Amino acid sequence: MTKPRIAFLCGSLRKDSFHRRLGQAIFAATDRIECVPVELGDLPLYNQDLDGKQALEAWARFRDAVRPTDGVLFGSPEYNRSMTGALKNALDVGSRPYGRSVFAKKPAAVFSASSGMTGGFGSNHALRQSCVFLDMPVMQQPEAYWGLINDDKIGLDGTVHDETVAKLVKAFANAFADWVDLIGHGRAKIAPDPTQQAQAS
Ligand SMILES: Cc1cc2nc3c(=O)[nH]c(=O)nc-3n(C[C@H](O)[C@H](O)[C@H](O)COP(=O)(O)O)c2cc1C
Repeated sequence: MTKPRIAFLCGSLRKDSFHRRLGQAIFAATDRIECVPVELGDLPLYNQDLDGKQALEAWARFRDAVRPTDGVLFGSPEYNRSMTGALKNALDVGSRPYGRSVFAKKPAAVFSASSGMTGGFGSNHALRQSCVFLDMPVMQQPEAYWGLINDDKIGLDGTVHDETVAKLVKAFANAFADWVDLIGHGRAKIAPDPTQQAQAS
């Protein structure tokens, strides 16, 4: 049986991002889902005027990468108590043109981390708010706010050295694989969206 393919959207563009490392750790913690990394750094800011019949190439590439996946894992760093501009822009690009969102009905999960105490809680929940409008069923538990994250807890290659972090990584990965199974079965029963069909043909 083929594994569900999960788009991994990391809201940080920096090379040594903790969210990139934690994403690696989550996918390494289960063999039930497959990671499809989708880069956000080359996406021009969304501008509805340019999104006609000839969408920008980078937007089309992003949409084509996310559309066929079976779910989305968001790593959502906190910038000024909200999600990063890069991640919000990716949501805007993927959600349009109207009626042809690449996100709708895809099972999703959100995690966040910060070197501060609050673990990116504000960003995590700002993203969840957008997911309501995007019509994405988001896994509720376990919540993942990794506060006081540092290089001793997770190495540059995504190897987790801290027992508490490792426990939540594993629980989160397994719960998300269950969530994708559960929602995926429901999605299969929903009649195909005619706009998606038109786009595919
Ligand atoms: C512009 C900017 C704003 C930030 N604002 C917050 C914040 O509001 N709350 C917080 O806990 N950390 C904040 N930080 C710290 C980042 O969340 C932290 O560096 C985190 O590790 C970034 O994720 P990354 O390691 O995946 O790049 C901010 C960092 C930057 C660059």
